[in-house]
Amino acid sequence: MAYIPLEFWSELVRSGSDLSAVGHPALGAYNRIAYHFRLEAFRRAIGASVPHWPNVRIFEGGFGVGFYLQYYAHEGVRSVAGIDLSVAAVAMVQGRFQEFRLVQGDLSEQLAFPEDGFDLVTATDVLYHIVDDRRWHQALAQLCDLVAPGGALLLTDKFPREGIRQAFPHVRRRSLSEYKCVFEERGLKLEYIRPVFVLMDDPITCGAMRWLGYLSLAQWTVVQKVIRMLWHWPWLRDVVAVFLAGLQFPFEWALVRLLDRTPNLEILVARKI
Ligand SMILES: C[S@@+](CC[C@H](N)C(=O)[O-])C[C@H]1O[C@@H](n2cnc3c(N)ncnc32)[C@H](O)[C@@H]1O
Repeated sequence: MAYIPLEFWSELVRSGSDLSAVGHPALGAYNRIAYHFRLEAFRRAIGASVPHWPNVRIFEGGFGVGFYLQYYAHEGVRSVAGIDLSVAAVAMVQGRFQEFRLVQGDLSEQLAFPEDGFDLVTATDVLYHIVDDRRWHQALAQLCDLVAPGGALLLTDKFPREGIRQAFPHVRRRSLSEYKCVFEERGLKLEYIRPVFVLMDDPITCGAMRWLGYLSLAQWTVVQKVIRMLWHWPWLRDVVAVFLAGLQFPFEWALVRLLDRTPNLEILVARKI
């Protein structure tokens, strides 16, 4: 089936107004537990790279159902702007976060935002969904340009060791070198990169520590297949999902803290020089 981004994202978000519309919606309660690891990684990255938190101006590219918007509101961040392609997502979050400036639009097209920029620009789990390479470059370059001098760009991806890998029609992975080229072009420098997941998401076998990628893939295949098999019985699926996540939890907790890199989702911060 062809991937038409505007239709795909508007339809997906229309189908659920919470985390059942992003991440791995089919995994039910497992997806919600995985989001705790996403938030933990996000908080560690902010702690390491964003001084003056929460007194910062934030721009969020692709806010989806507003998981991180909720976090900003909770933390008392007052200045938040953002853009998302999904008409349904924007309509939903505009009602929930009326104090933020949230608009519908495409990151890969010309954006009009203030020239003095933002202290923190984010794109979590967004850029790899822009599968057209020219548009990806345009989106990343614009995000870089939105960062104020001294500010930070934070994003997530799974990075193949080299080149570009199209995993699914709506997922295209680019290596860290591809990102670094754009950072260099736009005056940013990679400052921080850490694992978000080692076990609790779909790993790649062409990234950092390939042997770990294969190990992680073996256990992930079992975990997600078992949960998906129970799709017709949501309460049972959620019980099993929580049980399996509970088994993985201590290993995941330790691994994301011990390892510098992972063959799974990573979070990076680049600084505007
Ligand atoms: C996987 S969701 C991630 C949402 C949110 N950042 C999170 O981590 O929960 C991807 C989001 O990116 C948005 N998106 C995809 N392509 C986009 C583009 N070209 N411009 C703006 N938003 C885009 C989608 O509409 C969707 O809301």
